[in-house]
Amino acid sequence: MAFTIAIDGPAAAGKGTISKAVATHFGFGHLDTGLLYRAVGAKMLDGDDPVTAAEALDVSDLDREDLRTPEVAQAASKVAVIAAVRAALVDFQRAFARRSGGAVMDGRDIGTVICPEAEAKLFVTASAEVRARRRFLELTGKGSVITLDEVLADVKARDERDMNRAEAPLRPADDAVIVDTSTLTIDEAVAQAIAAIEARQAR
Ligand code: DC
Repeated sequence: MAFTIAIDGPAAAGKGTISKAVATHFGFGHLDTGLLYRAVGAKMLDGDDPVTAAEALDVSDLDREDLRTPEVAQAASKVAVIAAVRAALVDFQRAFARRSGGAVMDGRDIGTVICPEAEAKLFVTASAEVRARRRFLELTGKGSVITLDEVLADVKARDERDMNRAEAPLRPADDAVIVDTSTLTIDEAVAQAIAAIEARQAR
């Protein structure tokens, strides 16, 4: 049986961690849709045309090791404003969402555009300062040389671009449950997310 859980929200709000935990809890597949835009962004940085790259995208492109870098994140957010890039990625996402056995999809426009019919929708958010601090700790933990101010500027630039683009802007679906992780531990955030989804399942 297909059951789609849409998890949207801004960068570094905890979507990835929550999505993985939710997928494990329910035994569902998980697609981090940001990776699709990151793979196209990385190809643009290689000099490829982003629309052609999106149309030719292959699952093996999602294994590139540089997809988590701040440079690729910014490039992903830039290619994500291009309507033809977004259109080229729709079918792959919808097919994954309706796979049998259930799917957790995390991104920016899953509940609004890709899967408006999703059985459960969450919008995971946190203040820009909290998100920047988390991303800063993650990046410096991996050895990146970067300041908190630089990460905050990066987070704000991406928010601005993701929320104000004409095509599929980042916003909560009308029927999404908002999970604000600013003052929650990971365990608390995951528990809130699971409780919200179980409430939808019970309907
Ligand atoms: O979730 P992420 O940080 O990996 O996403 C990288 C960029 O990709 C993000 O800044 C905007 C874009 N994106 C999008 O436009 N739609 C999605 N469903 C997922 C990501």
